[in-house]
Amino acid sequence: MVEITADHVKWIRNYHYSSSFNAQELDLFNERKVKDILTFQQTHEKYAKTPLISLTELAAHLRVKDILVKDESVRFGLQAFKVMGGIYAIGKYISKKLGKDIKDLSFAELQSPEVKEQLGEITFISSTDGNHGRGVAWAARELGQKSVIYLPKGSTEERLQAIQKDGAHAEITDLNYDDTVHMCSQLAQENDWVMVQDTAWEGYEEIPLWIMQGYASMAFEITEELEREKKDPPTHIILQAGVGSFAAAITAYFMSNYREAPPKFIVVEPRLADCYYQSFAQGTGEIVPVTGHMNSIMAGLCCGIPNNRAFRILSQYAWASFSCDDTLAALGMRVLGNPLGEDVRIVSGESGAIPLGLLYYIRRFAEKEVSETLNLDEDSRVLVINTEGATDEESYRDIVWRGKYRS
Ligand SMILES: Cc1ncc(COP(=O)(O)O)c(C=O)c1O
Repeated sequence: MVEITADHVKWIRNYHYSSSFNAQELDLFNERKVKDILTFQQTHEKYAKTPLISLTELAAHLRVKDILVKDESVRFGLQAFKVMGGIYAIGKYISKKLGKDIKDLSFAELQSPEVKEQLGEITFISSTDGNHGRGVAWAARELGQKSVIYLPKGSTEERLQAIQKDGAHAEITDLNYDDTVHMCSQLAQENDWVMVQDTAWEGYEEIPLWIMQGYASMAFEITEELEREKKDPPTHIILQAGVGSFAAAITAYFMSNYREAPPKFIVVEPRLADCYYQSFAQGTGEIVPVTGHMNSIMAGLCCGIPNNRAFRILSQYAWASFSCDDTLAALGMRVLGNPLGEDVRIVSGESGAIPLGLLYYIRRFAEKEVSETLNLDEDSRVLVINTEGATDEESYRDIVWRGKYRS
């Protein structure tokens, strides 16, 4: 048994924080644009809004006003949110090729034999920890196109097979995530394939932006539901980051649409892939990449180089950054899987559970100073997004049933 102490969690305030309105970035995520994106995603017959769950008993236990969990473990039957980016980016790419506005198209139209004939065969390529690649493979197959997916060293057979089942040619490489991305970029150039990567760098920014915009529609679903139920928006959002595309998309949406009183955004990463934490700690406003083999159970978050746009957004708007070891993710999985009283049970995988594990740590174990710096108290309404379910079932049972990574 391991006692969770400050050794398991490092944190830093972001001293570059500024709430000033950065129109260049935020206008890309305004309500009108994101609503149109969601409208396209909704044209798929399997689209269903994911639940927004209020864990009232847990909130009382952790002495906050409310804990909201957006549960993406049921998205499109794929157990993770990632497909929201893949489906929109591939749809947008095809609509652009057709010279049409995606607003005027539905998923079914993109699936039509006429469109297929006009486009010919397209191969989409991507590197992935599992969830993104599965989304790309699924979306490509739905549109009658091909996909080639590479997973980094250490990826599980279960994740590989899930992607293969969705029609992709998929393999596990001997490289880490960032080097696998580089390899895919070269293969795309050599073979004239289309790279659909969930991270951006100078010269490769259009498709990653579409992916981020595709993620932002989750935030639209959240705010629409809160407004309809006349509930106040969150005061704090804890967001897990790999390359940061997801965290930045949610942040940009809330900053764009709640600019008078934005929530505090808190970024959380695994210790071995904490490029945002390291960058904030250095404090120059520049990216500090993390390299090497990233051996964390939070497979989706094992990325050492931030998406450049996501970094611009988060280095302005994130309030603080946390770097955590695996015990906190395991703790979050167990807390969500074993609810208090009438609270709903939520199945959450390693990368999905870390924000809740961190919240639990901050309220139960951390020095008071941490809550104080974050303004986290009895009036706080905290939002977390369960970005994945039990995408690796054996590991889920090891942790939740058999107590692996116990604290
Ligand atoms: C389940 C899950 N959560 C969160 C993330 C983080 O997303 P990003 O890499 O955009 O930071 C990922 C990325 O693959 C993921 O699979």
